[in-house]
Amino acid sequence: MKNSAWCFPRKNSRRARLHKMLPIWSGVMRAEPQALFELFRQSDSIMNDVLANAWSLKDQTILVTGASSGIGRAVSQVLAERGARLVLSGRNEARLLETLQALPDDGHLLAPYDLADLDGILAWLGGLIPRTGRLSGLAHCAGIFALQPARLSTVKTWDRILRTNLIAAAQLAAAFRPATISTRPASMVFVSSVAGLVGDRGISAYSASKGALISLTKTLALEFAAEHIRVNCVAPGQVATPMREQTQQFLSPEQSAAIEAMHPLGIGLPADVAQAIAFLLMPCSRWFTGSTLVVDGGYTAH
Ligand SMILES: NC(=O)c1ccc[n+]([C@@H]2O[C@H](COP(=O)([O-])OP(=O)(O)OC[C@H]3O[C@@H](n4cnc5c(N)ncnc54)[C@H](OP(=O)(O)O)[C@@H]3O)[C@@H](O)[C@H]2O)c1
Repeated sequence: MKNSAWCFPRKNSRRARLHKMLPIWSGVMRAEPQALFELFRQSDSIMNDVLANAWSLKDQTILVTGASSGIGRAVSQVLAERGARLVLSGRNEARLLETLQALPDDGHLLAPYDLADLDGILAWLGGLIPRTGRLSGLAHCAGIFALQPARLSTVKTWDRILRTNLIAAAQLAAAFRPATISTRPASMVFVSSVAGLVGDRGISAYSASKGALISLTKTLALEFAAEHIRVNCVAPGQVATPMREQTQQFLSPEQSAAIEAMHPLGIGLPADVAQAIAFLLMPCSRWFTGSTLVVDGGYTAH
């Protein structure tokens, strides 16, 4: 009895219903390889297009803020070497000119601007476009630092730091978004910090600005995805730039050594961060958005 029940499922039983499904499933199984093949064929042709220019920035025009110093200057060098045409921004025109003169090829432009003037950002960026053409990328490297314990912190410091490090980024993103200003696709990269990921003493305003930049990156990534604009950020550990030199003067040799020891691969070079930013601007990172790429010599691996 048991055996015959196995061969002939009872009418309307669960097994009978499964039996009925068998021809349908076998049809799906037969069709699936073809559907999969078509999917692979399509993604293959997309990937071939992507791979052809994956690691190049040829024909791209990229605005670099903070281009007059440190990480921004190194970013300018790396992007220009990858074929990008650059719009270099900062406040100090003499140092911007030094960056420009060190770049391979001509065709790059200077666009000095004080990003603390938040209300003017929209008009400034819009005014650049007749001269530069539409932008395909933004590397926002400008930033300031303040060493000020929370018990001594002032509204003035908070205001200065948040304006330059955070609100300017949000204003730049808003100004960059319209299709009259940026190409499709386009990519935007902000420079956060490990201070936005882990705590440290004496830098509350700076940490808060860099942590908020990570949150801003995620929100903008979602808002701008439909526009084919990717938004990512990098979070560097300590990098040998004028900004780090300034902070070093407040530290004892022992404190300096302790910070360096927290970077298993040592203190970074501006070019280490610049390469990561270049990656996020190139087509090879086309599936990255809302990401924070940590470039810290192992600082946050503890
Ligand atoms: N160095 C590090 O260890 C480190 C670590 C993590 C994150 N970062 C971040 O990396 C970014 C670059 O830092 P850096 O080390 O390269 O510092 P830096 O050498 O001091 O360069 C800072 C750049 O920001 C520009 N800038 C500052 N305020 C500005 C304003 N109001 N308007 C326009 N430009 C302004 C400066 O241009 P002008 O002087 O011409 O105005 C300069 O080009 C910053 O966002 C910083 O927070 C640095």
